[in-house]
Order: sequence, then C-alpha cells, then structure tokens
Amino acid sequence: MLGETILNVDDEKLIRWSLREELSKDGFNILEADTIKRCYAVLREHDPDLMILDQLLPDGTGIDVLYHVQTGKNILPVIMLTAIDRSDVAVQAMKLGVFDYVTKPVNMEELRIVIGKALEATRLRRQVAHFLKEQEKTFGFCGMIGSSPPMKKVFHDITKIAQSGGTTVLITGESGTGKELAAKALHFLSERREKPLMMVNISALPETLIESELFGHEKGAFTDAKTQKKGIFELADGGTIFLDEIGDISPKVQVKLLRVVEQKTFQRIGGVSDITVDVRIIAATNQSLEERICQGSFRADLYYRLNVANIHMPPLRERGDDILMLAEYFVQEFNMTFHKRFKDLTGETKQMFLTYQWPGNIRELKNVLERAILLGDGELVSPKDIEFSDIHKPQMSTSPRDMEIGQNSYSLYDLEKQALRRALEQAGYNQSKAARLLRISRDTLRYRMKKYGLNQHCD
Ligand SMILES: Nc1ncnc2c1ncn2[C@@H]1O[C@H](COP(=O)(O)OP(=O)(O)OP(=O)(O)O)[C@@H](O)[C@H]1O
Ligand SMILES: [Mg+2]
Repeated sequence: MLGETILNVDDEKLIRWSLREELSKDGFNILEADTIKRCYAVLREHDPDLMILDQLLPDGTGIDVLYHVQTGKNILPVIMLTAIDRSDVAVQAMKLGVFDYVTKPVNMEELRIVIGKALEATRLRRQVAHFLKEQEKTFGFCGMIGSSPPMKKVFHDITKIAQSGGTTVLITGESGTGKELAAKALHFLSERREKPLMMVNISALPETLIESELFGHEKGAFTDAKTQKKGIFELADGGTIFLDEIGDISPKVQVKLLRVVEQKTFQRIGGVSDITVDVRIIAATNQSLEERICQGSFRADLYYRLNVANIHMPPLRERGDDILMLAEYFVQEFNMTFHKRFKDLTGETKQMFLTYQWPGNIRELKNVLERAILLGDGELVSPKDIEFSDIHKPQMSTSPRDMEIGQNSYSLYDLEKQALRRALEQAGYNQSKAARLLRISRDTLRYRMKKYGLNQHCD
C-alpha cells in the first residue's frame, strides 16, 4: 500500500488539511486540487492511483469530474464525498462509475476501508492488464491469441500478405473464428496502417443502401440524394476496405464490385466520370462461396478476383491447446470486467472444453466464459458454471446407424478426432489402453494423435 498516490479534490482548506494529515500517516502521497480546473491540470501531469472527490466545487460539480475521468486517459477509482445523503447524486455518480461515496462529515475509519477496497481493485486491474499484455506478447499476434500449428500458419500468412501491397484477400472460416481480427491485423501490419480501414458488414446493410454506401452518389441521383455523397471506397482511398459477409451481396452489386476489384475504378450512383482509388480489398465469408457459385448466386469471376490470397481461419476444435490458452485469457478478461478472482478452470472443465465441438468457435467460448465468470464465484471454473447453448450440446450418437450425416453435422474428421479424445480420456491417457478401446494398433493411434494435434495431453 505504501507509496500510492491519492488526489484529493476539495475546496475546503480544513478538509484538505485533515485528510492530508491522516492519509500521509498511512504512507500515501497526497496531491491536492481546490477547483475542477486545477484537478484536470493535476491529472494531466500525474497518474494518481485514486481520487477523493468533493461533490460541490467552486467551478462545477463532482459529476462533471466523473464524466471527465470516465472518458479521459486516467484510469483511477473515484470516491465521492457528499455533504448530505443525496441519493439522486449517488445514483448519477454510480452510473458514471464512481467506486463508492462517503458522506460528510468524514468518518476516517469508514474512508480508510473504502480507500483500501478501491486501491485493491486498482491493483487487481493493473495486474490483469499486465497479465493480458504479457499473454499477448508471448502467445498472441495483433490481439489474436494462439500458438497451435494451424494458427502459426495463419500468423505467418497474414504477415506475408500484409506486406504485399494491394493484393486482394479472401478470409474464410466458420462463424466466430476471428476473421474480423485477421482483417484488422492485415491492415495494421501493412504499410497502409496510417490510412483508413473501412469495415462494411454487407448483411447488415439494406439492399437499397449497399450501392450508395459503397460507391456514393451524386446530388439528385435519386429522391433522397439531396447532396453529393462519397462512398466507402472513396473514403478508404490509400487504406483498406473490409467487406464482411461477402456471400450475401446481390448480383447487381457483384457486377459493380467486380469492376472495382479488377480496375480499382467505379462511378458514383448518378455519376458519369470514373473514380479511381488505391485500396486493398479484404473480403470475408463464413459460407462456402463455391457452393454459392454452383447455386448460381455468386459470380465465379468475382470469386476468383477476390480469392487472390486466401487466409483460412481454422475452427476452434482443430486448435488443440489454444482452447485452454484462450479460456485462460478470457477468464482474466472477465475477472477484470466483473471484479472476480477466478484463477483457472478445473481439470474436468478443461477436458470438457477440449472435447466439445465449439460450433460457435471463439465467440462461443468467450460467451460461455463471460456467463460463467459473471454468475460464478470462487477461484476455479467448474462444469456447473458452464452452459453450452442447447443446440450445440456435446453429443455423439452411440449407434453408427443413427448417426446424422450432412451439412450441419460432424465431418468424418471431427468424428475421428472426437473418438480419439474419448478413448484417451476413458483410458486415462494410457495410449496402449486407448488403442485397444479403438481396436487399432498403438502406432496407428500415435499417428492419428499427431495428425489431430492430440499429443500434448497424453503420455
Ligand atoms: N485468436 C483470438 N484471440 C482472442 N480473441 C479472439 C481470437 N479470435 C477471435 N476472437 C474473439 O472472438 C470473437 C469473434 O471473432 P470475430 O468477430 O473476428 O469472428 P468472425 O470470424 O468475424 O465471426 P463471424 O463470421 O460470425 O462474423 C470476437 O470477440 C474476437 O475478439
Ligand atoms: Mg465477422
């Protein structure tokens, strides 16, 4: 606790003096301000660990300061002093993230307890922030956690493609695998990083708007076009444009897009002159564009133009121990959000996570842990804290005859991997035993374990 700095904002000299006397005895460094103006000046120069804030100040109210703190660069808890027990102010203050409030006249013991709690929260936050940074440095890449072989390949591909100027990129992968993060990494690792990255979610835009959003329009091009408007392609000039959910784009827009992708040239709606831009186009989809081409709803020529470079985001179930690494990362992240102290998952939860199929991938893992941390308590996340969404409960048919085969079911790859995991679990990770359970040789088992990246968990 020694050496932490408290900023006391109060216009009453006597209160400032008595808090300084008391709190310096406890080993705190004290900074002071008697007006809001002075308070902001102190915050610009210093980075205190805590603020004690009076509600009424000569040049405004404590609420103004809270708002400033919430939106500013300093991250610090604020304890508010209120002269009278004003619940309306307290409610407003709580909404603005005040840590706690203490009524005047100040009871020093009460204030000490609140200060202790607030500083502990800050320490925890700083620790967690440090952990997350370290974790990313060790295991991550531009905000993406992972060190499994398929992710190493992704990181390698992103680095290479990022440096390749304006090459068009198609990012494929199931929902929630991190396609958007990959697109951001591509932009920020490229020489275009100082220029705009414009992100467009095609499926979120109404069909009638897509064209004018992308290409802009001239004044009077249609009834609502009161002024000329630049489209996203023009705004992204020099930078990157990310077209998310490209599979949903209409045939009409596909034609126009094809021209931009080929020539980097287009016309605004209602316009007559060509506009040429320098943009890197990154498109993403979780659908099979090949299938859409067969159905006749996606143009093959556009597909080939977009798929010059391809980055495929692997599903979480194929990422081995990344599942646990990501879980640990999210546990820390949600500890911070919900002020919890979870340290790890129980062994049972880990096994459950490693065998679950994760159809919603990382997004699902994140959601499952958000719920677990929010509602749970203690230090270990146990299976009772975990709730998978019903449709995705881990399940495997016991009889091959009942097994469902089809688009929304498991692939042979998934089934084989699942069978290997089950056998290894049942055999307590004894390989000879697991091989007997599967009625295959130990060598075959080893070969397959390697193929599915299952080596790490076994003897
Ligand atoms: N490697 C990773 N490390 C940490 N967080 C990740 C990683 N990959 C994805 N996430 C997180 O998972 C969530 C889903 O990722 P993202 O939105 O990039 O997926 P997506 O592939 O674009 O999904 P969709 O197809 O549904 O749009 C986000 O909250 C993202 O921050
Ligand atoms: Mg996405």
